[in-house]
Amino acid sequence: MSGRLLIVHGPNLNLLGTREPDVYGTATLEDANDVCRAAAEAGGFAVDIVQSNHEGALVDAIQAAQGTAVGIVINPAAYTHTSVAIADALAAVGLPVVEVHLSNVHAREPFRSHSYVSPHASAVIAGAGIQGYRFAVEHLAALLSD
Ligand code: DQA
Repeated sequence: MSGRLLIVHGPNLNLLGTREPDVYGTATLEDANDVCRAAAEAGGFAVDIVQSNHEGALVDAIQAAQGTAVGIVINPAAYTHTSVAIADALAAVGLPVVEVHLSNVHAREPFRSHSYVSPHASAVIAGAGIQGYRFAVEHLAALLSD
């Protein structure tokens, strides 16, 4: 095992599967987590997975990754577009970050094109559905194995 990856899911992602399936697909959060686990295991990593609808809980989880995780995959959901606190937490821990969005945020409302998180991410994956999590974990695994 080469270490632990923290997977962070933001608000409303607990509703995946039933939430706006035309936008987010029909896969559930557990399906997304299975994708993360499989990709991490294939790369020799373990995962810790957090979902919260609360900004402070997400900040706490990111802070706690310092010393326990070697990289972070995060879908900050709506907080992508609003949260300086999450961006600051990512900057503070200084771990490699991959930002994931199920939908192509750039093809949606203009406010979704701005991300406070992207400046702290080594890669951003949008529009690939839950496979985006696989790409994110594979990218982190490659980055960390270099
Ligand atoms: C999302 C895109 C965000 O704009 C939205 O608020 C979400 C999900 C996505 O995965 O496509 O909740 O991050």
